[in-house]
Amino acid sequence: MRETNYHIIVAAGSGSRYGGNLPKQFCDLNGRPLLMTTIERLHDATPDAEIIVVLSADMVEMWGEMCREHAFTLSHLIATGGPTRAHSVKNAVTLIEQRLAADSCGRCRWISVHDAARPVVTRPMVEALISSLKEADGAIPACRVTDSIRLIGPDGSSHAVDRSMYRAVQTPQIFHAAKLIAAYRQPLQPEFTDDASVMEAAGYDALCLVDGDPHNIKVTNPGDMAIASLYLAETI
Ligand code: C5P
Repeated sequence: MRETNYHIIVAAGSGSRYGGNLPKQFCDLNGRPLLMTTIERLHDATPDAEIIVVLSADMVEMWGEMCREHAFTLSHLIATGGPTRAHSVKNAVTLIEQRLAADSCGRCRWISVHDAARPVVTRPMVEALISSLKEADGAIPACRVTDSIRLIGPDGSSHAVDRSMYRAVQTPQIFHAAKLIAAYRQPLQPEFTDDASVMEAAGYDALCLVDGDPHNIKVTNPGDMAIASLYLAETI
C-alpha cells in the first residue's frame, strides 16, 4: 500500500513579539522569506513526505506572490489558519483526513507538526524523531533548561524550583497519524500550546522525548533572525 506522510508547518500566527508589519515567518532570512527555508529543510529531511503550510487567509495571496518572486517551486499544500495555533493545526489535520478519505489506496503512518519560525530544523533530528515513534504515540524534541527557573504564585510571589525536573519542548513533534487525527477531534482548550499537550489530553500519553537541539530556535524577538542565519551556516 502506498504511504504518504505529512509535515504540517504552522505559519498563521501574527508574530506580535517580533515587531514590524509582517509576521516573522515572512521576514527576510538570507535573502528570502524565512518560511521558505523551513519548508526546504523539512523537504530535504524527508523528500517523500507531503508538506502542508497553514497560512492566515489574508496572507495566502501574498505568499503566492512571494513564491513567484523568489522562484520558490517546492511543492506544498495550503490550509487556512484559525484563531489559535491548535485551531490552525486542526485545519491541516482535517485536510489530511479529507485526502486520506479520497485515496483508498493510500495510508499515512505519521504526521509531524512544526512551527514555521524554526528554520534551523535538521535532518538528523527528524530522523531521530521518526525512528523513536516505533515505541510511542509521539516523539518530541526537548532540551534541558539552562536558566534558573522560578514558579510564580497567584499573589505574584515566586520560589525557585529544581530545573533538572523541567524540559523546554521544541518542534517538529511527530505522531502516529491515526492518533493525532483522533486527538484533534476533542474540543480545543486554551492550554494546548503544542501538539503533545493535545495528544496527552486525548489519552495518548506515551510520548518519547528525543534530545532537542539548542540551535533549533524559534525566531521570536528582533535579533533572533541573525542568530538563525548564523546557525544555518553551520548545520546540515
Ligand atoms: O505564537 P507562537 O510563536 O507560539 O506560535 C507558534 C507557531 O504557531 C508559529 O509558527 C505561528 O505562526 C503558528 N500559529 C498559527 N496560528 C495561530 C497562532 C500561531 O499557525 N493562530
